[in-house]
Parts: sequence; C-alpha cells; structure tokens
Amino acid sequence: MAAKKAAKKSAKKTARKKAAPKIKDPVFETVKIERSKGITFLIMNRPEKRNAMSPQLHMDMNDAIDYLSIDPATDVLVVTGAGKAFSAGQDIKLYFRGTADDPAARAKARRASNAWRWQKLSRFPKPTIAMINGFCFGGAFTQVCACDFAIASSTATFGLSEVNWGIIPGGIVSWNVGQVMNYRNAIYYATTGEPFNGKRAMEIGMVNKAVPAGKLKAEVMKLARLMQQKSPAAVRYTKEAIRSVRFMNEPEAADYLNAKSDALKHVDKEDSRGQGMSQFLDEKSYRPGLGHFERRNKG
Ligand code: ACO
Repeated sequence: MAAKKAAKKSAKKTARKKAAPKIKDPVFETVKIERSKGITFLIMNRPEKRNAMSPQLHMDMNDAIDYLSIDPATDVLVVTGAGKAFSAGQDIKLYFRGTADDPAARAKARRASNAWRWQKLSRFPKPTIAMINGFCFGGAFTQVCACDFAIASSTATFGLSEVNWGIIPGGIVSWNVGQVMNYRNAIYYATTGEPFNGKRAMEIGMVNKAVPAGKLKAEVMKLARLMQQKSPAAVRYTKEAIRSVRFMNEPEAADYLNAKSDALKHVDKEDSRGQGMSQFLDEKSYRPGLGHFERRNKG
C-alpha cells in the first residue's frame, strides 16, 4: 500500500516536472532572476554593498527588465534585494565618485539608471510588486514608486538620505515622492533625512502594506497569485489608465478612457468581459462585486 502511494507520488512529481520545463535565464553580474510558478523575482544582488546601485547594476537591470518584459512565463514581476537590504540607493563610490571625471560614463550610467528604475519598470506590461526587505535609501525610492504595488517588512529602514551628504533627491526621486506621499511628508523626510520604518512607510502612502519580516514573502506571493487570477489584459489596461490619467485634465481623461475601453475589447484574447458577463448573468456562478470570474479561456 505504502509502495503504491509512493509510486503515485513520484509519478505526480515527474508529471509536474515535465509540465514546467526549467527556464534557462541569462546570468548577470549584479542581478539575479528566480522563478516560482509564473511569479518572477528580479533581485538586486550586491548584498555586501547593501545592493547600492553601481553603473553595472543599472546596465544589468536594464537588460533583465527588457528580457522579462517579453517573457511569456512571467505573470507577475517582484523586484527585491538580496541579503539585508532592498537597496542602499546610488553607489556613492562607483556611481558618483567613479564617474565624476568622466562625463560620458556618468551620462551612460544616468541614462541606464533612469531607464530601468522609471521608464521601463513603470511601463512593465505585467503587474509589478516592490518587496522591500530591508534598507531602502535615496535613489531606490524610484523603483519602489515605479512598481504597481509595494509591500515592506515593517522593520525595513527607509530614508531620503540625500540631504545627509549634501545633495538633493535628484534623478526623479523628488517627483516620485511628491506623488506617493503628501506634500508635508515629502518635504519633511527629504529635508530632515530622517529614517522611517516600513510601518511608517505604509502610514504615509509610500507602500501598500507593512508586515513582519517573516511574513513578507508570503504576503507578496498572496498578492501575486491574486493578480494571476485576474484578466491580464484588464489588469494591464487598468494600470496604464490609472498611470496616464494622473497628468490629464478631465476632458482628456474622459476621451482617453473611452478609447482605452474600446481598445481593450480588441486586444483581450480571453474575452474577459464576455466571460465575466456570462458567468454572472447566465450561469450565476459568481458576483463581480465580491470576486473575479473564472479564467476558463486563457487566450
Ligand atoms: N554607496 C556606496 N557604498 C555603499 C552604499 C552606497 N549607497 N551603501 C552601502 N555601501 C557599502 C559600504 O561602504 C560598505 O562597503 P565596505 O564593506 O567596502 O566598507 C558596505 O556597503 C556595507 O555598508 P555598511 O555601512 O558597513 O553596512 P551597514 O549595514 O552598517 O549600514 C546602510 C547600511 C545604513 C545602508 C549604510 O551603508 C548607509 O548609510 N549607506 C548609504 C545610504 C544612502 O545614503 N544612500 C543614498 C545614496 S544617494 C542616492 O541614492 C541619490
């Protein structure tokens, strides 16, 4: 009986292995990719330097995000850091001092830095979650703000520390914090450089949630799995709509949203709208106010 059970278990395991062939991801010097059933972890990987962002890390993140943005096996992207830091911000030695006498190198690093942290990440086609596991300073605020969601360990340490060494929150950090925090808090934390923890980050709108360190990954996985159950086209168009209308006036927003709604009907290969409508009105199998439809036709 026990032998039969064991054989069954092993057959199941083999079938599972067959169903999900291991993906050979590119290898980067300062970034690593880890995967768990459609949820892809993009990890800044210089733990001995608290994942401070060197020019090399910026180049690697650019390449990794380009690669993952067209990766069919990624349903949700999680951005995080190795070891005890999310990221200690720009590498003061390699990014600032290292390029001080080389304008071309500085320009290249700055372009790469702005491209991945904002342009590429905020426009990533799938849901993105910043998982703030520890220190998060200065320039690292941009990638947190670029992600659709941010979940922090309640003991993570955040800080707009630029003022503490005589610079302003440059790149686009001042612009980022002016959007996620209210004006008073943005000015307060940027001019005092006072560190704050994950719990405070949640109170001031910097992150969605703060949870004990031991529960951080489970909380991120819960949200990522929820995103996997939603219509990918509807989620993508929703986040694009929310992002874009922030900078429009009312008539522009109304026009844009009309066009976006029409476009969604054409690009959504799953016909989520049709499935959702029929499961509610005909089958009466769910209530849209209380949950999502069942994705039976995945396009
Ligand atoms: N730039 C360059 N090197 C850094 C950075 C950074 N932003 N952060 C950490 N490191 C390096 C340290 O110099 C040290 O290197 P070493 O081992 O060769 O001496 C190593 O990482 C470990 O750092 P420690 O300070 O020893 O680690 P600790 O855990 O005690 O403190 C902390 C971590 C609080 C993050 C501290 O390193 C720190 O204050 N870093 C600077 C944070 C900051 O102000 N960032 C904003 C930069 S400005 C901007 O982003 C625009």
